[in-house]
Parts: sequence; C-alpha cells; structure tokens
Amino acid sequence: MYARLAEEYDALLGELAESTWRQGIVAELAGLSRGTGTRIADIGAGTGIGGRLMRELRPDFQIVGLDRAARMLERARGSYRRTVVADASEGLPFEDREFDVLVSGFDTLNYFDPAVLRVFLAEAARCLREFGLLIFDYSSPRLLREEWRDLEYEENHADGRVRWSHRYDASQDRCVSTVERYSEGGELKWREQHVQYALDAYSLAGLAEKQGLSVERVRNLDKPVYTPLANTHIWVMSRQRC
Ligand SMILES: C[S@@+](CC[C@H](N)C(=O)[O-])C[C@H]1O[C@@H](n2cnc3c(N)ncnc32)[C@H](O)[C@@H]1O
Repeated sequence: MYARLAEEYDALLGELAESTWRQGIVAELAGLSRGTGTRIADIGAGTGIGGRLMRELRPDFQIVGLDRAARMLERARGSYRRTVVADASEGLPFEDREFDVLVSGFDTLNYFDPAVLRVFLAEAARCLREFGLLIFDYSSPRLLREEWRDLEYEENHADGRVRWSHRYDASQDRCVSTVERYSEGGELKWREQHVQYALDAYSLAGLAEKQGLSVERVRNLDKPVYTPLANTHIWVMSRQRC
C-alpha cells in the first residue's frame, strides 16, 4: 500500500489533502493558545503535506512524522524534524507522555479496523501528556456505505489516465478502493488497493473514552457543526487526567 502511489501522490491527491488539512487539523491548531502544543507527532504523515502546513502555521512546532510506507516518508523529510518508519497498528514507538498533540490527516485513521483503532487510541493516550490533544479527520460511515458503495471514475492526465473504483463490502463493513494507473498507450503501469473502515460517531466516541481520551468536539470538515451525513468529520479528543 502506498508503494507505487507514493510517486504520484502529491500530483494526484495533494490538492485535496491540503484543503482537508487547512479546513480541519490546521484550523483546530490555529485556535490553540500559543504554547499549548509544541511537541507534535503526525501519524500517517505520508509525503509531509500536513507537516509543511503545520510548520507554516507555527514554525516553532516540533513535529515528528510517522508512516509505515518508507516511499511516502522519503518525500516528507523537509516537513519534519524527524521521520519514523513504523506501523502504527503495532503500537507507537514513542515515550509515555512524549507529545502535546497527536494529529492524523486525510483519513489515515480510516485505514484501521475497529480492533486496530482501539489499540491506536490506547497508544495515543499513552503518548500524550495530561490534557494533550488527539486531532484527526475521519471519513464518515455514510461516505463509505453510500457514496463509495459502487463508484468508478477516471481522470485524464497528460501522460495517461488514472482509474479509481470504490466498493463497499457490507459483509465486513469496509470499503475496498482500487487505483489503477495507465500509460498514454493504455498499458496498466501499476495497481494498488486500499481498505478503509468507518465507525459511527457513537462507537468511536465510546471506544476513545475507554482508552482514556475524551471527546472535546466533533464537527463537519466544512462547518462548525456536526451532522452525521457529512463525508468527513474533524475530531478533537483530549487525554484525560492521568
Ligand atoms: C491517505 S494517506 C494520508 C497521508 C498524509 N497524512 C496526507 O495528509 O497526505 C494515508 C497514509 O497513512 C499511512 N498509513 C496507513 N496505515 C498505516 C499504519 N498502520 N501505520 C502507519 N502509517 C499508515 C499510509 O502509508 C499513507 O501514507
């Protein structure tokens, strides 16, 4: 996953990822009082789009970028003080209370099935200082179950085309997305598959509470209110008293 897409990630998805960060995590960080959060870890940092935007917002932020895809992270070095190749589903390679804020952008946490998400939330709580924040955007169940139930489209590029397909698999409550890259002559250059999950807000909030994180607020990506039918929500959780 993200081995072949890494080469073209910024060109294909960079604009959408950047606008999601600006409306979501970056807007939340901008509202923090100065000095609240300086030590930050970006989980699923990818090519470093979020790291670059957070540093533009606050050059004094000390940000670590973590991703399991080394080929994505190779492109992110300029965005972080330090990068770490690690699989977050196996735990976070950080000290207890090492960070003021953990962030995860452009639906990275949707890659975690409910069991992995539980482990991740417990690890996030462990790595945050008391009252530290976990801020992330998260695709809603409606996006996966309805919009992406059975969706296919193609994008034309100067050097060929990209075909996206999304299929919701009701038996496992997950969405399997396939991206295929074709050359100008129509030859398949590469194909990747991504599997995503989306818990409903009630389940996600309950899971977080059990791991020591309390939900401070949740809102639609583009509005200061929460509505269940939005495609993407922004979640802000805080580490409860240790
Ligand atoms: C949709 S991309 C988002 C990248 C970046 N956050 C952005 O906004 O452009 C999802 C990223 O999550 C990473 N990822 C998925 N599962 C992961 C895991 N278990 N541990 C670490 N990284 C993971 C992928 O390698 C990929 O770079």
